Amino acid sequence: MSAPVALVTGAARGIGLATARGFLREGWHVAMADRDGDELMRAAEGLEGALPIIADVSRPDQVARMMAEALAHYSRLDALVNNAGVAEFGPIEVCDFAMWRRVMETNLDGVFLCSQAAIPALRESRGAIVNIASISGLRASTLRVAYGTSKAAVIQLTKQQAVELGEYGIRANCVAPGPVNTKLALAVHTPEIRAAYHDALPLNRYGSEEEIAEAILFLCSPRASYITGQVLAADGGFEATGVGLPALRA
Ligand SMILES: NC(=O)c1ccc[n+]([C@@H]2O[C@H](COP(=O)([O-])OP(=O)(O)OC[C@H]3O[C@@H](n4cnc5c(N)ncnc54)[C@H](O)[C@@H]3O)[C@@H](O)[C@H]2O)c1
Repeated sequence: MSAPVALVTGAARGIGLATARGFLREGWHVAMADRDGDELMRAAEGLEGALPIIADVSRPDQVARMMAEALAHYSRLDALVNNAGVAEFGPIEVCDFAMWRRVMETNLDGVFLCSQAAIPALRESRGAIVNIASISGLRASTLRVAYGTSKAAVIQLTKQQAVELGEYGIRANCVAPGPVNTKLALAVHTPEIRAAYHDALPLNRYGSEEEIAEAILFLCSPRASYITGQVLAADGGFEATGVGLPALRA
């Protein structure tokens, strides 16, 4: 049997790139999709078993082409990781409709479109979908009206997919990462936000791309064969926390 195949979106850098590398280490082949062609080509260089595909997940025509290219190359698909995401932070009064749409079209429309396009191939393999949400989709916070709402919707979409696609043997789960020092986080995490995260994280540190990738790889693997419809927060304990950590540390 040929090696299993994953398609990872937003794979040019950050969590997506770490996930692609993790799949390759475990003997999978990986289609790496991203809309940033230059960064994608640089990332895929020298990665044996990887196929870079330039595509914007928010565009139905490009998603259809992405899936066709991946299947033409590998003839199978065992896992889809909907990781491509954007973050724009701002107060409710400042988040205009253009910002709202920019966030929704990648974070939510993209997950819907890529998953739908992958269903025929995932039916054949009885494969898995892993959607990347965020702790901002589990707990509301300031500045995240678009981002947090898009990620909460991804969590619900995951459950919807698990319920409808279980019939075909397709599992759908969600990883909700805590803060990770990627380009995305560096752009929106001000010093105040960084300090607030440290105050709210029992493990008192940001996570690494590889730590998030481990959770994704597990959920895609046969080791998670009876797990579907779940949200796994890889978040240093953020979701479990209430008030009191700074006082405890003091
Ligand atoms: N970094 C964090 O702190 C954090 C926390 C929680 C959740 N997340 C989520 O993890 C995922 C990965 O984030 P990251 O931190 O690695 O970000 P990143 O910015 O480092 O990487 C995201 C990648 O997605 C690509 N991308 C964005 N929009 C796209 C589109 N429409 N089509 C195709 N590619 C697109 C970008 O070009 C980039 O290569 C995102 O869904 C993000 O919301 C990140």
